[in-house]
Amino acid sequence: MAAETTKRGGFGGKLAAILAAAGSAIGLGNIWRFPYITSEHGGGAFIIIYLCCILFLGLPLLIAEFSVGHNSKCNPVDAFSKIKRGWGWLGAAGLISVTLIMGYYFVISGWTLNYAIASATNSIDGDYGAFFTEFTTGTWAPLIFTYIFILANHFIIIGGVQGGIEKASKVMMPLLFVILIVLAVYSLWLPDGREALGNVFTPDFSKVSGKTFLDAMGQAFFTLSIGMGAMLVYGSYFKKGTKIAGTAISVVSLDTIVALTAAVIIFSAGVENESGMQLAFVAMPKVFSAMPAGNVWATLFFLLLGLAALSSTISMHEAVTSYFVEKRGMSRKAGAWLVTFIALALATVASLSLGAWSGFTVLDMNFFSLLDNFTAIVMLPILGIMTAVFVGWIWRKEDMKAELTAEGGIDAKTYPVVRFLLRYVCPVLVSIVFIFGLIDFFNNL
Ligand code: TRP
Repeated sequence: MAAETTKRGGFGGKLAAILAAAGSAIGLGNIWRFPYITSEHGGGAFIIIYLCCILFLGLPLLIAEFSVGHNSKCNPVDAFSKIKRGWGWLGAAGLISVTLIMGYYFVISGWTLNYAIASATNSIDGDYGAFFTEFTTGTWAPLIFTYIFILANHFIIIGGVQGGIEKASKVMMPLLFVILIVLAVYSLWLPDGREALGNVFTPDFSKVSGKTFLDAMGQAFFTLSIGMGAMLVYGSYFKKGTKIAGTAISVVSLDTIVALTAAVIIFSAGVENESGMQLAFVAMPKVFSAMPAGNVWATLFFLLLGLAALSSTISMHEAVTSYFVEKRGMSRKAGAWLVTFIALALATVASLSLGAWSGFTVLDMNFFSLLDNFTAIVMLPILGIMTAVFVGWIWRKEDMKAELTAEGGIDAKTYPVVRFLLRYVCPVLVSIVFIFGLIDFFNNL
């Protein structure tokens, strides 16, 4: 046992733990997805519902996942089965989901690279929509950028938990915050910007429907990387004595601040009527191009998006790698290569499914949307419900309590609330939202 714990990697300290986990949480979900979902659902009204989902569902689930990891010091599959025999499948289901997410997430990550370079060299001219379509439906260009991104990931993972992930997070996250602040200050300084912001953040409850709750919850889970084993593995790398609830609160706060700031940046540029991927990749470069030194701002924006994506994808990769290393006895290098190859294969199909292979569809969805929808609509809620049930009902109360209260302070104070939310509120609310989500999905087919 002692040998096992010393052999495992781990984060050097509190700050590293927070930065790495915040890196996992803060991603395309915050900067690319949150603003457009917000604008689709009536701005301020959506934000209020979203914040409730983060606080009452997302935060307790993040605490649950950190605790399972920190308590068992294992990869996701062994972590659940070590606490309760027969529950390893829950970790496996998370790892399968995160692998599927990697399939399309890496493709979008690759785009950010192309856009950062194209903005820096001022080579997107004229029609931004046409540029986007031509690039993303092309064969080689998006693949090459995606491969570069996957390899960058690979080499960070090979560096180990402290030498790779921790080091990278300590460089990337501060840089990300600086770029975010620079862009936010600039956008608030634009006079039209402040007006546009007022319009977006003023709640419009007439746009709220059942779907609003669905999307708010889905977004809250997605942005906190819930249920996929990534946060569990990072929790397993926390030092002894780390305050679990305290760390989770820091991560959730940073994640929420970044999402709201990204919305400020995007809406003050006056693009609230765009939706989907078009928002970040078409509307933003267009808006920047009309500003003085526009290509500098555009480059910074895509750099921001790329950094956020990179710090998220390393946690996805690490979760699956840790499984191959600990459960299948591979070396870290071999395990990482295997995950890299799986990611390369899935991302290749996902990227081509937007162009050359767009003719192959299932339920009217290409492979890219299939990965996105299946993980977001089916897997995410199921994993959320089962994680809550596991920690709230299956894990021995005394053990769970000991894990969560050992460090005192805020952890001990929040324990009863967290337990109540995990036992009752999360399973019930998430189940309701899940069922209505499925009904809504099939109605729209
Ligand atoms: N949280 C990430 C974002 O907001 C996306 C994400 C979802 C994720 N599930 C994950 C990241 C699992 C790492 C691991 O973009």
